[in-house]
Amino acid sequence: MSILELYEQMSWGTAPEGAELATKWLEDHGRKFSHFIDGEFSSPSEGSYFETLCPSNAKPLGEIAQGSLSDVDSAVQAARKAQPLWWSIGGYERAKYLYAIARLIQKHSRLFAVLESLDNGKPIRETRDLDIPLVVRHFYHHAGWAEAMESELPGCEPLGVCGQIIPWNFPLLMLAWKIAPAIAMGNTVVLKPAEYTSLSALLFAEICVRAGLPAGVVNIVTGDGETGRYIVEHSDIDKIAFTGSTEVGRLIRKATAGSGKKLSLELGGKSPFIVFEDSDIDSAVEGLVDAIWFNQGQVCCAGSRLLVQESIADRVFAKVRARMEKLRVGDPLDKSIDIGAIIAPVQLERIASLVKQGVDEGAEIFQPSWTCPKDGWFYPPTLLSNVSTASTVAQVEIFGPVLVGMTFRTPKEAVELANNTPYGLAASVWTENVNLAHDIAAKLKAGTVWVNSTNLFDAASGFGGFRESGYGREGGREGLVEYTRASVVVCHSEESNSSTPIAQHSTPGLDRTHKLYIAGKQARPDSGYSLTIDGEDVGRGNRKDIRNAVEAARGALAGWSGNSTHGRAQVMFYLAENLQALGDETAVRSVFSVASRCDKRDGAAHSVPMRALCYTVNEPIGVIGIICSDDRPLVEFLELACGAIAMGNTVVVIPSEKNPLPAVEVYRILETSDIPAGVFNIVTGLRKEVVPTLAEHEDVDAIWCFAPELGADVERMSIGNLKQAWIGCGSPSVTTILRHATQVKNVWVPYGE
Ligand code: NAI
Repeated sequence: MSILELYEQMSWGTAPEGAELATKWLEDHGRKFSHFIDGEFSSPSEGSYFETLCPSNAKPLGEIAQGSLSDVDSAVQAARKAQPLWWSIGGYERAKYLYAIARLIQKHSRLFAVLESLDNGKPIRETRDLDIPLVVRHFYHHAGWAEAMESELPGCEPLGVCGQIIPWNFPLLMLAWKIAPAIAMGNTVVLKPAEYTSLSALLFAEICVRAGLPAGVVNIVTGDGETGRYIVEHSDIDKIAFTGSTEVGRLIRKATAGSGKKLSLELGGKSPFIVFEDSDIDSAVEGLVDAIWFNQGQVCCAGSRLLVQESIADRVFAKVRARMEKLRVGDPLDKSIDIGAIIAPVQLERIASLVKQGVDEGAEIFQPSWTCPKDGWFYPPTLLSNVSTASTVAQVEIFGPVLVGMTFRTPKEAVELANNTPYGLAASVWTENVNLAHDIAAKLKAGTVWVNSTNLFDAASGFGGFRESGYGREGGREGLVEYTRASVVVCHSEESNSSTPIAQHSTPGLDRTHKLYIAGKQARPDSGYSLTIDGEDVGRGNRKDIRNAVEAARGALAGWSGNSTHGRAQVMFYLAENLQALGDETAVRSVFSVASRCDKRDGAAHSVPMRALCYTVNEPIGVIGIICSDDRPLVEFLELACGAIAMGNTVVVIPSEKNPLPAVEVYRILETSDIPAGVFNIVTGLRKEVVPTLAEHEDVDAIWCFAPELGADVERMSIGNLKQAWIGCGSPSVTTILRHATQVKNVWVPYGE
């Protein structure tokens, strides 16, 4: 073939990466792998193993130990034993170990990259250039946090033993996201890799040995979902961190409810990729390739929903089809392929069946003209267009190389479409108009927004979701909160009786009618009944009242959260001023204190190692349901409700059951305040009659329960829409309340050439 012919054809040759290093590592272990417990590799107690296969050729790579309850128990015991010493050696000493791990992974990065590609089926270009460098970065970054913990996070201490369960799509990276912050903060861990991809975790265990990490600090127990369940249900674990499907996330939320375990969930997504008519279309199409075909689309934040402005839709779809035709699917170890293999036949079948369902529901399908290799589990890049928003493929996470395309006319419609799923993990916005970009970024319900970019991750920037994509963050300062608690927890407040419930309550005089407070007005309880407390009648709310209150809170949310922090501060200061009428200085102070902080819960600009502005904004969570304890009936009620409101949330509050009178006094003050109708709703009554409806309500985004006897039930009842549950006690600091009242959004804006 002449050079001219070659030039015209421009076909790619193969550029295979050698597998010898990884094959030798497998052979050296006799292709049989045990757990890593208490610093040693130990065979499974029940002697069972399962095969792990190479997705690109379906051949076995080795045998993996199946973790039993007894294996998990040994690992937890080892972690428990190791934790006090690990914490007591101090941040500087811990940092040295994390640093050693980072260095050692860096030195063995080729072995890690090849092994990961063999085991997972993802292209070597991705493991080599993204997964492993990010793993290294995570350990370096958190080595720094270990050292800086004492000065940067004063008053924080580790949780203890953390159970960590990770998926198969980024095996080593998810391990790093979990282990690095946990051990940096002085915890010890029991981690379970996904059953399809255990090998890099076991190689990591060897790195821990090489780094001289004290026995028991990191324990790896391999196995399937059953092993994961043993970890989740283990009574001596203080925290569960999970990444995986929303379905399993929901099971874990249920299993941990009431156990006192701290929980962070990083779940599924259906992330929008929004292209406006003024965008650089070629860049957007390249971005899209990365957004949806990176890691075969098996990415929780994959840009799987393409939303294109109607005026450019034909051009964009034509370019996407042309680009798809040029993508190469094949051997993951070939450096010139774009898309590797799907993890397992079950996933392949799920993808194929969802695509079929999409077509049956009326979508137009496009797949390139070439065919995929037949040896392993491959699926071609696929575009489903003309999809309706309600169709299954527009709502369900496909977790494969399948893009769903839709159009919109106006920015408002783009936001509506983008937010029209139960998820909220990530979003990508393409426009050359900086005002539009930031405006849309602010309106998207997503934990991460990328402007003119996609799939940017860094250890300095917390990653995690809104809504059913889970809660908690991994990475950044915000991620450290997940692995620490305040050193002193006051569960029996000395202030319990410090609020002086207002003397006027018991003053004889005209009969007083206390209703409920819903949508800015005193509302008669639906039942028409009252409860008599200390000789006074208060409204006896029921489920209908709670529903009305939630509806009012939802209706008020957009306006209130859209208010400026300065605007909200003024409203809160004025409320504090008016509360003086109650003659309770502690109460006034508590509202004054949140008013003071309204405009001070700043975000941050993260220092990321690339030319990008990565900024954090603390956003309100939405509608928050609050169940007060019987302690501090006025002050706790105000601290929690006003803390939530100050951050832009709207609330439905159930005051103390035994002593609701101080709270009902607030109705009259609210009526004269500037708090808009629907922002602050109060339903008094018997907890058993009102709490379940509030906890279970699908339109409540977070539930705070300070009634100690109800914590476990509330956690269980609130699983449905995976709302955040804060089971609190004592008198949390204002900072803690404001932290619970916000969720982090990170916006990435690359700049430069
Ligand atoms: P999965 O959620 O079942 O598995 C993730 C991890 O959880 C694995 O380590 C698994 O062993 C463990 N696990 C499973 N059941 C458990 C239980 N009851 N208790 C504790 N741990 C348990 O995900 P799977 O089956 O591998 O994939 C199914 C679907 O989940 C995918 O098609 C995709 O839609 C979604 N998925 C989403 C991920 C994400 O990052 N958002 C990651 C992996 C899967």
